[in-house]
Amino acid sequence: MDFERLVNLTEQRVKDFHEMQNLGVHTNNGEFIPAGVHYPPITHYPKIDYDEMFKGYKISDDGFTDVYVHIPFCQSKCIFCHYPSRYNSTDEEKDKYLEALEKEMHIYKNVLGGSIKPRAILIGGGTPTDLTLKQLSLFLEFFTANCDMSAMRQFNYDVSPSTLIGKDGIGRLKLLKEFGVNRLTIGIQSLNDEILNLMNRAHNKREALESIKNSLDMGFQTNIEFIYGHPGQTLKNWYEDLKQIVELGTEEIQFYRLKIEAYGDQQGSIKYYKTHNPTKMPSPEDTMRMKQMVFDYLKEYGYTENLRRVFTKKKSYISLYAYNQCCMLYDQIGLGLTAFSSLRNRFVLNTPDFNEYYERINNGLLPFNRGYVRNSEAQQRWAAILPLKNYFIRKQHYKKVTGINIENSIIYPVIQKLKEYDLVVEDDKTIKLTEKGGFFSDEVVGLFYDTKFIPKEKSYFNNGPLNPYTLNEK
Ligand SMILES: C[S@@+](CC[C@H](N)C(=O)[O-])C[C@H]1O[C@@H](n2cnc3c(N)ncnc32)[C@H](O)[C@@H]1O
Ligand code: SF4
Repeated sequence: MDFERLVNLTEQRVKDFHEMQNLGVHTNNGEFIPAGVHYPPITHYPKIDYDEMFKGYKISDDGFTDVYVHIPFCQSKCIFCHYPSRYNSTDEEKDKYLEALEKEMHIYKNVLGGSIKPRAILIGGGTPTDLTLKQLSLFLEFFTANCDMSAMRQFNYDVSPSTLIGKDGIGRLKLLKEFGVNRLTIGIQSLNDEILNLMNRAHNKREALESIKNSLDMGFQTNIEFIYGHPGQTLKNWYEDLKQIVELGTEEIQFYRLKIEAYGDQQGSIKYYKTHNPTKMPSPEDTMRMKQMVFDYLKEYGYTENLRRVFTKKKSYISLYAYNQCCMLYDQIGLGLTAFSSLRNRFVLNTPDFNEYYERINNGLLPFNRGYVRNSEAQQRWAAILPLKNYFIRKQHYKKVTGINIENSIIYPVIQKLKEYDLVVEDDKTIKLTEKGGFFSDEVVGLFYDTKFIPKEKSYFNNGPLNPYTLNEK
């Protein structure tokens, strides 16, 4: 499809965006507030001790938990990144961290009654391949030895391109393969060298393409990630990226709208950049256009949005780890600095401080320092937010997770209201976002937040019928 036609197709979405602002769904200044990974947001978690955190918790009868491991090292710090990571760490620092991680696995195993049994695994960061070959091998060895891998179906690694190229890159890929890793998510972010440079990425376009080729050649299911709405992007250079992206032959492509404000504890430098370079930022309208261009352009190449913001040719290519987390709401444990565990009705959050992390582990304790046990009302909101945003709500499943029928839940009046505005549809078994609701999924599920957890004040939203404060006032 040519550029003019693609851009013409975005007009309706821009109108929808203005409608969302008028209704009070989208912020009136166009600022993006992501919603739905954690509910309540992690900035609201109080300090909590072990007994309080695990009181009444028992692992599910089948003993499964998915597993996330955080390796907090990177080669450079990207300007858009709010993830906790250290760059340019020494090999000694990394050795020390891996040693602590192994001990943490032993402690967690005991807490879970003797074994860690994952269905799906995600090793992320940071850049979990920003390790020497020896360190990577050591990690994979103790990690797989400490898990019961008999039911493991998907072993994911979140990687960045610079660690997958050249001789060492091939060496790392071989190791991953040897230990059963079957799916890679590579953070490409952009195929434009000027923008990659502005992002302070550790790779350029040529290296990005080499990493994708290496991953595909070695038989990994390959997912690539991009950001839109970033400084330096225009409709035209975004179109140039899209044309190349669809030709890369990866199973999956993911698109993230740039988040400027931190949604966790750490603020990336992009906020400072925006304040000092406002003219470099694409307008909210152009950002909406970039998003709609993804849908229209990728459709022609057989890619469909099969999980929110995830485009695949086959449904089965989506991440099982993400599906289990967002749609099934299964238990998952998090290991490593800042990792979180989601255990039925609670979140456990590991410390972001290296010293505290080492100290707790050396004392035989899990390294968390904050957490949140949801009461029934918070559980009803959480169990709607994640599946609705990413997939859809199955009423029977909702009842299993919350103990109540969704028709009697605290959020049902909001669902009724959203139906009036063509954002949600309901039948006797499911509740789903419409196409328009799905396009504004973060904002729509943000309407299920208790007013005390809405990240921005009331004045950020027009006083329309779907203002999140008005909707949720008790
Ligand atoms: C865990 S992160 C980083 C993965 C890996 N370290 C990398 O940089 O390639 C996963 C993805 O989130 C997206 N992301 C990170 N920060 C973002 C931000 N501020 N706004 C939007 N997307 C972001 C990026 O596409 C990134 O690849
Ligand atoms: S985006 Fe990835 S590579 Fe860049 S600093 Fe964040 S975690 Fe590291």
